[in-house]
Amino acid sequence: MTEPLVLGIETSCDETGVGLVRGTTLLADVIASSVDEHARYGGVVPEVASRAHLDALVPTVDLALERAGVSLRDVDAVAVTVGPGLAGALLVGVAAAKSYALSLGIPLIGVNHLAAHVAVDTVEHGPLPQRCVALLVSGGHSSLLLVEDGAELTGLGATVDDAAGEAFDKVARVLGLPFPGGPHIDRVATDGDPAAIAFPRGKAGDGSLDFSFSGLKTAVARWVEARERAGEAVPVAAVAASFQEAVVDVLVAKALTACARHDADVLVIGGGVAANSRLRAVATERAARAGVVVRIPRPGLCTDNGAMVATLGADLLARGVRTGLEVSADPSLALVPPI
Ligand code: KG4
Ligand code: ZN
Repeated sequence: MTEPLVLGIETSCDETGVGLVRGTTLLADVIASSVDEHARYGGVVPEVASRAHLDALVPTVDLALERAGVSLRDVDAVAVTVGPGLAGALLVGVAAAKSYALSLGIPLIGVNHLAAHVAVDTVEHGPLPQRCVALLVSGGHSSLLLVEDGAELTGLGATVDDAAGEAFDKVARVLGLPFPGGPHIDRVATDGDPAAIAFPRGKAGDGSLDFSFSGLKTAVARWVEARERAGEAVPVAAVAASFQEAVVDVLVAKALTACARHDADVLVIGGGVAANSRLRAVATERAARAGVVVRIPRPGLCTDNGAMVATLGADLLARGVRTGLEVSADPSLALVPPI
């Protein structure tokens, strides 16, 4: 008997993501991003995102079906992100998912966006161990989570102010780089010395598993302003590399502390910032020294996508989880298992 085919829909922020997974095999992953429409505002505008999802959703589903070589009638269940995320953006995805499920007479599974970021790693690296730690770092969240049984999440720590990706985006703006700034800082930093400027490591030695990036962001802005006031050129590559190093240093140190404290020898890293080349390299190197295996999906599966929703949906379906058509969007969805 063939394994069930699950359609995953992700609309929590500015990417309309549609994935198709059969069992544990990814068949298609299509993303329509409204990022260019937000770039001129320097950040995601919720109303613009909702409207873009409305325009893109059905064509993106159709394209994913075409790429996977299947038809809508072949789909056995629909999974959709119910939160956390932008209220209007989530609503578009949830309404569409309900329509597909109702019209096709198939189950609907609402999933937690953070759990989906973790679950997508299984597409590339196989099943998760019974217990592992996840570091989720993106434009909207920076969290350390204990992951048990694949989808049960317990919060161990989180940012007390800006998310890591938000700090990348704000520092990029200070350096005159386009939005979203993370990939630009990553690129520019390859020509800079990460030890050039000693920027502060927020909450580094406080023993907690929480993060703070707003002091770092302010320190970078002050440093750049001081150079500009003195009429000196700003060494963009050195600032980018030193800022990036400060973020990566704290993220990796706290993630490995979390592994040690919670007896986990596997660390999964996800979210848009997990696409960062320096984070990938430093985490892999330091984890190896600590006897921890690091699992990071390929960059395209780190940023928001539909494959992650379909993957978690397929996993929950296999466990018999159904959320029913009454599921609704929950912008501040908490980490309550099983979704
Ligand atoms: O997961 P994601 O696509 O959306 C949210 O849920 O926020 O993450 C987007 C964030 C942005 O802040 C972006 O600047 C950051 O991830 N990002 C990066 C890189 N690629 C994306 N940050 C650092 N280095 C990168 N290579
Ligand atoms: Zn995300």
